[in-house]
Amino acid sequence: MSARHFDAIVLGAGAAGLMAALTAGQRGKRVLLVDHADEPGKKILISGGGRCNFTNIHTAADRYISENAHFARSSLARYTPADFIALVGRHGIAWHEKTLGQLFCDGSARAIVEMLMHECREGGVSFAFGQPISALDHGDGLYRVTIGGLEHHAPSVVLATGGLSIPKMGATGFALDIARRFGLPVVQTRPALVPFTLGEDEALFRSLSGLSAEVIARAGKAAFREAALFTHRGLSGPAMLQVSSYWEHRTPIHVDFLPDAAGDWLLDEKRNRPRATLRSVLGRRLPERLADTLADRIGLEGELSNCRDAALRTAQDQLARWEFTPNGTEGYAKAEVTAGGISTRALSQKSMESTKVPGLFAIGEAVDVTGWLGGYNFQWAWASGHAAGSSV
Ligand code: FDA
Repeated sequence: MSARHFDAIVLGAGAAGLMAALTAGQRGKRVLLVDHADEPGKKILISGGGRCNFTNIHTAADRYISENAHFARSSLARYTPADFIALVGRHGIAWHEKTLGQLFCDGSARAIVEMLMHECREGGVSFAFGQPISALDHGDGLYRVTIGGLEHHAPSVVLATGGLSIPKMGATGFALDIARRFGLPVVQTRPALVPFTLGEDEALFRSLSGLSAEVIARAGKAAFREAALFTHRGLSGPAMLQVSSYWEHRTPIHVDFLPDAAGDWLLDEKRNRPRATLRSVLGRRLPERLADTLADRIGLEGELSNCRDAALRTAQDQLARWEFTPNGTEGYAKAEVTAGGISTRALSQKSMESTKVPGLFAIGEAVDVTGWLGGYNFQWAWASGHAAGSSV
């Protein structure tokens, strides 16, 4: 590859960058796609347990967290899950819906990366993989990107280097550093879709490591009914990952351990099974070890017939709003995504171009738009990548 002039240089060959490059390339633009990793789409390869949960059919802007809740709407409307499903279909990739609208490949996630690379080649995209970006400068209406001692230039550059999650896989703060250098505001980043850690007070729950149960987990106004998993460090599983994106440090999360229990169910149990104990009643509804732990914590001994109604009501309420105050999260090392990032205030929602710095685009996880668990983050990467690729 020699130094050349391009119409656009896309930095980062992850989900968003691949989509931006193939879209622009197929519009006849000369595109250079750059990544410091020696192969593209590494996160796609490990996503969804190796089967890539590539979209969610319930995609809507209210399933994304951002300072500007409406920002994602425009891109999401112009490149929808149906568009990506059609692309996958054209490549003969078999898929299935797992739960909650989550679409996965039947086979390996590698098929998605191969599909995107094939589409890039169809668009005549040039690649520069496996070497660091040593400089990025701007002047006279051109961006100059130096890779391996060679300078490439283009009137447009697309920041698609993702967020800070999983540094071991090559995640860097590159996009955020460049954004700051060009004067774009950055919303404070934090790990999201990340397991919680529990302190000594909750050691009892850590002893349930490996156990999972369907719960409703709440943080602030956000509530998710999915599986929770107790780990040796704290709490994980989809319900916990989801609320982690809304959680603020030093605030509690609340867990309803019996999401199907209705009304005064414990008083009904007292009437119908007066000789039962709280432990035995919970044991019929929950995994045994969890039932024992909760009963121990509530401390209501003896047969239900000997328990006062008020005490049973208190126990009911406790089980429906069990309070945990995590002492932290497992951080970027374990976070599926990064919340925060390049502020949407700085970008056009139609093109993803900076409103102040012409030719500078930002897409994907680098931007302050964070999806729920379940294919929403890839759909954002495809949609924002498509928006930029249509505009460069
Ligand atoms: P992404 O991180 O994919 O790509 C950024 C690219 O930039 C990388 O190729 C990286 O090498 C490159 N780069 C970084 N710094 C650079 C630098 N300084 N110079 C040059 N290149 C640089 N989402 C979902 O919807 N469904 C799912 O099933 C999953 N599963 C999943 C599992 C795991 C374990 C993780 C960690 C994450 C997921 N996700 C997910 C989230 C999803 O992977 C994520 O939202 C997208 O990959 C974001 O796409 P981007 O293209 O923005 O960044």
